[in-house]
Amino acid sequence: MKQLTEQQILDNWDKLMKLIEDTFEGDRKDKLLKMYKYFEDRMSVAPASGKAAYHNAMVGGYVEHVLHVTDCALKIKKLWEEDGAKINFTDEELIFAAMHHDLGKVGDLTEDYYIPQDSEWHRKNRGEIFKHNPKLQYMSVTDRAIYLLNHFGIQMSEWEYIGLRLTDGLYEEANKSYLMSYNPDWSLKSNIAYILHQADMMATHIEFDEWNRLDEETNTKISDNIKKAVGSKEEKPKPSPKLSQKSNDLFEELFGDKK
Ligand SMILES: [Fe+2]
Repeated sequence: MKQLTEQQILDNWDKLMKLIEDTFEGDRKDKLLKMYKYFEDRMSVAPASGKAAYHNAMVGGYVEHVLHVTDCALKIKKLWEEDGAKINFTDEELIFAAMHHDLGKVGDLTEDYYIPQDSEWHRKNRGEIFKHNPKLQYMSVTDRAIYLLNHFGIQMSEWEYIGLRLTDGLYEEANKSYLMSYNPDWSLKSNIAYILHQADMMATHIEFDEWNRLDEETNTKISDNIKKAVGSKEEKPKPSPKLSQKSNDLFEELFGDKK
């Protein structure tokens, strides 16, 4: 089972902040930094999914996934461009949409989206490492992303909205009218959504492969690994003095002595 060290979590956060510094400017950059500061404690340790069978269901998995999708999106855009595709959006727009396509997985203004699965049965038999927080109002991940960006007054361009909105492609039922229209006038007028969907798919499947590869290397079943991560005193990661209390509490809950 893949786990990030505290140093990797801190390094990934620094990479994310550098990406903002290098990509955006002016009022929008200030507002983005303000939002990321607000969510730093929760976002830096958030997982990207809840189940071992999905992807990056680990502490710090969200930030790693966002960086991965951004990197894949820039590479895929280059490939499309070299092969003759029309690129009518900027790298800033592509990065903005990639960075925020899963923002809703951080939760709302006070509550986390994922909380540790406290049922041993679900951990062992269903590979559920995290579960949805029942305190949250239901909202799709994409809707929550847009709500949060709006809350912090962060504006987006039309292509950023289309890209972020459609990153899940046809895995999201609500995207059908955008992607399966038989009226040529309504077809997408930018390739940004296709490129982001490919980037998200690529990153997600690679993250899953990495997870499996590590599993095969240790020749241990996922359930045994989860048990080890929860129960082993020798191998549990040490909470970092650099991470805040919130982050350390989550570390302790997942890797502490109590079962
Ligand atoms: Fe994603």
